[in-house]
Amino acid sequence: MTSVSDAVAALNAGNLIFLPTETVYGLGASASDSVAVAKVFSAKGRPHFNPLIAHVADLAIAEGLAHFDDRACALAKAFWPGPLTLVVPYRNDGQVCDLARAGLDSVAIRMPAHPLALEILRAFGGGVVAPSANRSGRPSPTRFYDAVEETGAYVAAAIDGGDCQIGLESTVVSLMDGVRYLRAGAVTRQQIEAVIGPLEGDDHDGHRSPGRLTLHYAPEAKVEINVALPEPGCAYLAFGPTNYTGPVFQLSASSDLSEAASNLFKSLRDADKLKPSKICVAPVPDEGLGEAINDRLKRASGFIG
Ligand code: TXA
Ligand code: MG
Repeated sequence: MTSVSDAVAALNAGNLIFLPTETVYGLGASASDSVAVAKVFSAKGRPHFNPLIAHVADLAIAEGLAHFDDRACALAKAFWPGPLTLVVPYRNDGQVCDLARAGLDSVAIRMPAHPLALEILRAFGGGVVAPSANRSGRPSPTRFYDAVEETGAYVAAAIDGGDCQIGLESTVVSLMDGVRYLRAGAVTRQQIEAVIGPLEGDDHDGHRSPGRLTLHYAPEAKVEINVALPEPGCAYLAFGPTNYTGPVFQLSASSDLSEAASNLFKSLRDADKLKPSKICVAPVPDEGLGEAINDRLKRASGFIG
């Protein structure tokens, strides 16, 4: 198995690594190295208008990359290390290259909670950009095997960090224009508001978060959401007890939202391998973590509103 020092050597040599995190597996490169960052975009087939998240070992390194006002500091202190990405004004000193930021004057930063990610980031010292390690538009990898299947051919160092505990990408909050909740994740709106007060209106048009404009998280099979009982021939992602007699992938037998989040992408992938006529998904309540689950499901089903 690859070691932390192999991963750091790969980053320093301008090569790609897997960055195992608590949310999903990332495809990592040195944030300042535009040639390495270009390899990330091409390995994923990712459009260049969609900027990447810079991962750091601590808040001090983050403050070296970007300006953190009182609210940004309060959010970082409350939720880091953890599944919260903050979009803040970039310092413009080359530490996160233009390509990684899609030319924006802001930068997205997060400190992940996975011990191996933190070890790699501490040993490397600088920012590591890491989008989810899937090919663009596909479900994010939450198991080592899935990451290998998606982009394993492009990495010089592949660390197995086990199954991702959360299973959904980080919450993205922007502080560029008030405080806006750009992408739902394990840190809920209510948790953000408890720290810094009310959020601004939603970003319905996606213009503040370029990645939100594209079809995402989609398996090969068509996905239909909010299905109580599927027709024969479908694969079914259930949430709680079901009478369906075809192939069932249980998101959570006890209807627990955290368990469902951790099972979501791997269930989509495993269901897809059966080549069903359709993947149907049970209704999932829209509260708390359910907002993030429903966001990913709507996008997987082709709804990009
Ligand atoms: O949990 C995660 O965040 C994972 C793990 C690997 O850390 N990473 C991840 O990265 O989900 P990615 O690239 O798949 O998603 C990054 C999101 C995209 O929606 C992108 O548009 C948004 O963050 N983003 C990045 N920089 C931004 C910026 N400057 N302004 C607004 N949105 C930004
Ligand atoms: Mg992604």
